[in-house]
Amino acid sequence: MQVVSLVTQKGGSGKTTLAVNLAVAACRAGRRTLILDLDPQGTAEAWYQDREEAEPRLVRLEAADLPRALELARRQGFTLAFIDTPGRDAPAVASAIRQSDFCLVPCRPTPPDMKAQPATVATIRRLGRPFAFVLTQTPPRGFRIREAQQGLAVLGPVVPVPVVARSVYQDAQGAGLGVVEYEPAGKAAEEMARLWAWLARRLERIAHDAQAHLARRPAS
Ligand SMILES: Nc1ncnc2c1ncn2[C@@H]1O[C@H](COP(=O)(O)OP(=O)(O)OP(=O)(O)O)[C@@H](O)[C@H]1O
Ligand SMILES: [Mg+2]
Repeated sequence: MQVVSLVTQKGGSGKTTLAVNLAVAACRAGRRTLILDLDPQGTAEAWYQDREEAEPRLVRLEAADLPRALELARRQGFTLAFIDTPGRDAPAVASAIRQSDFCLVPCRPTPPDMKAQPATVATIRRLGRPFAFVLTQTPPRGFRIREAQQGLAVLGPVVPVPVVARSVYQDAQGAGLGVVEYEPAGKAAEEMARLWAWLARRLERIAHDAQAHLARRPAS
């Protein structure tokens, strides 16, 4: 099972939106997917309660229970877990990062969001985890996206799929759906499909590298 955390200390940047939408996209791609909601606000859990489909499964928990929950999920045959983190709870965020194979860091193209990123990146780097930024709630096109991509690239890799501000993200969330379910032919669905495709490729590479690393280790 692979584990992906959505992390950034900046509130409202799109952690929960990406966690639920990517989890729905992953399910449709055949991954047995679980969302672990570490946020006491329970935004992802509220989405799940409005949802009729059972998949992706969602569990709300405290950070202290994370290792046990992940172990159980592995034994139950889940192949992918997304952890939705609470921005302001540093120990919970560190615990999620530590358990993750990859971290996605959502960031709006605004000065306050950009300024908050070095602290998040420092924690991820200290814990030695691979990560990438995702621009969120962007205008549909234009110089703001380019400037933000260039600014973030100084700190780390940036996913080449900006997530545009579209009301369908809010409408789908209110209906307990992912945008790929709510408006399958829409632009948001297309960008979530592209974002998932990017992440799936990245996760494949991580799994491949881990296998190669194991194969190189001398037998004891
Ligand atoms: N691409 C988008 N387009 C339009 N609205 C968006 C988009 N992404 C997120 N939102 C909206 O912005 C608000 C904050 O998003 P979200 O809850 O995903 O952020 P968060 O990082 O999880 O916040 P918190 O730190 O409070 O947990 C929500 O109302 C959500 O519906
Ligand atoms: Mg949230």
